[in-house]
Amino acid sequence: MKRVLITGANGLLGQKLITALIEDYELLATARAEKPVLQSPTFQYRPLNIEKYRECKAVIEDFQPDVIINAAAFTNVDACEVEKEACWRANVKGVENLVHASRNRMIQLIHISTDYIFDGKNGPYREDDRPNPPCYYGKAKLASENVIKASGIPFTIVRTSVVYGVGVDVKSNFFLWVYQNLKQGKPIRVVTDQYNTPTLVDDLAEGIHLILNRPFLGVIHISGADFVHRYQMAVQIAETFGFDPSLITPITTDQLQQQAPRPFKAGLKIDKAIQELGFHPKTLKESLVYLKTTLSK
Ligand SMILES: NC(=O)c1ccc[n+]([C@@H]2O[C@H](COP(=O)([O-])OP(=O)(O)OC[C@H]3O[C@@H](n4cnc5c(N)ncnc54)[C@H](OP(=O)(O)O)[C@@H]3O)[C@@H](O)[C@H]2O)c1
Repeated sequence: MKRVLITGANGLLGQKLITALIEDYELLATARAEKPVLQSPTFQYRPLNIEKYRECKAVIEDFQPDVIINAAAFTNVDACEVEKEACWRANVKGVENLVHASRNRMIQLIHISTDYIFDGKNGPYREDDRPNPPCYYGKAKLASENVIKASGIPFTIVRTSVVYGVGVDVKSNFFLWVYQNLKQGKPIRVVTDQYNTPTLVDDLAEGIHLILNRPFLGVIHISGADFVHRYQMAVQIAETFGFDPSLITPITTDQLQQQAPRPFKAGLKIDKAIQELGFHPKTLKESLVYLKTTLSK
């Protein structure tokens, strides 16, 4: 059985990766916390802060993985704009540490990047389109891609877009924010000018499962296929869950005063993943119905 080390395993994607891979791979889940949030006797767990090179080296030497999946990141886009050093430490230095600690063993690194590396003038984007990040988070994620590309190790860079879903003690995501507010009858303001291809986290984990099975090396986009703005997604959430859509007020980004500039037309084209991996994500509507079933259990 191939040995797979997952970083950021307590995050939204990290948790879904454990569930998606546990039957086919020998897993070592790692995260900053002392304990995993998912409890299962069938995977091993070790604390790991990827910003600490010695920890990376020790964990890699002990476990000797065939593949590392880096799902650890500083993911708060607005916080990255003000806490630039912390963003760089997690999103670039952490990746450098993983690269250097695994280089001699030529371990495959699967790293997760974002559509925020593109300027949003002309999305959705293909893998070979020119990056031009509008915000610090995007700049750091692009820098991490470049570290990996220059390293000489076998790698897969998986770019994704607006990841959403449910998990154990996870940070809020766009779906959860809309769901929790509308469920309580609270009004929300949502932008009509930020387009992405929102990605159900379970589909993203399944896409990475396909990458491992092949195996696939290079850059690949794994996201949903619906190109929608946030207001459209919020209305679909309301419709699917039977919430009042009049609670959602459409606004534009200039009314929001977000710390970090956003790409307006971002999102990703996934033709390569469809052709090379047989990746077929659920539609946005199917994903929301799936979440409704999950949340009612
Ligand atoms: N969420 C999105 O919309 C989105 C969109 C595009 C790309 N992505 C990318 O997808 C990947 C997974 O994101 P996600 O949605 O699963 O985010 P998430 O729920 O915020 O998970 C990220 C995890 O990384 C951990 N982490 C942060 N710094 C760390 C460090 N120095 N060492 C070890 N772990 C650390 C965090 O742990 P703590 O709890 O300890 O902070 C958190 O559990 C990231 O690379 C992200 O950039 C996400």
